[in-house]
Amino acid sequence: MVNNLRITTQENLMSAFSGESQAHMRYLYFADIADKEGFPNVARLFRAVAYSEQIHAHNHFKKLGHLDDGFVDVAHAPFGPGNTSRNLKHAIMGEEYEIEEMYPTYLEIAKMQGEKQAEMSFKWAFESEKEHAKLFKRAKEAVDKGKDAEFGPIYVCEICGYTIEGKAPDRCPICGAPIEKFKKF
Ligand code: FE2
Ligand code: FE2
Ligand code: FE2
Repeated sequence: MVNNLRITTQENLMSAFSGESQAHMRYLYFADIADKEGFPNVARLFRAVAYSEQIHAHNHFKKLGHLDDGFVDVAHAPFGPGNTSRNLKHAIMGEEYEIEEMYPTYLEIAKMQGEKQAEMSFKWAFESEKEHAKLFKRAKEAVDKGKDAEFGPIYVCEICGYTIEGKAPDRCPICGAPIEKFKKF
């Protein structure tokens, strides 16, 4: 297992844990608002993605088992909850930050530092966030027209957090887990 992680990657894991944890809580809050506003499918999407972020947070946290201390207070995300349209805008901003800046940087550093386990954890999250951004964009288009989004079942891989709408794949395209490992929302 990972021990004595190189310092930058270690801090990046802590920061990513913080960001994923906050995203989890933020999306559960947004789900309640979407329900109240009459967008049950958008609420379901928020709950599915909240579960995916929980998996990312746990995967990152597990890699820090060698620590007996360490505090970090970093999580780059928009604040200011509002109605579902605004919440979706913030969700998209958060996902895009992870896709465009955070995970590509953390991945490069983990590679450079030879931290294979951390690299895998970042990669799994990175690939999931791309799907989250797409789904949130679809939801926002509908909500901005005053309609609920049209979503079939949403599946989340319990191993890597990969999120897909419609039908679960036989094997997770990101981590290779079998179809039984997908949780349905
Ligand atoms: Fe995530
Ligand atoms: Fe995400
Ligand atoms: Fe997976």
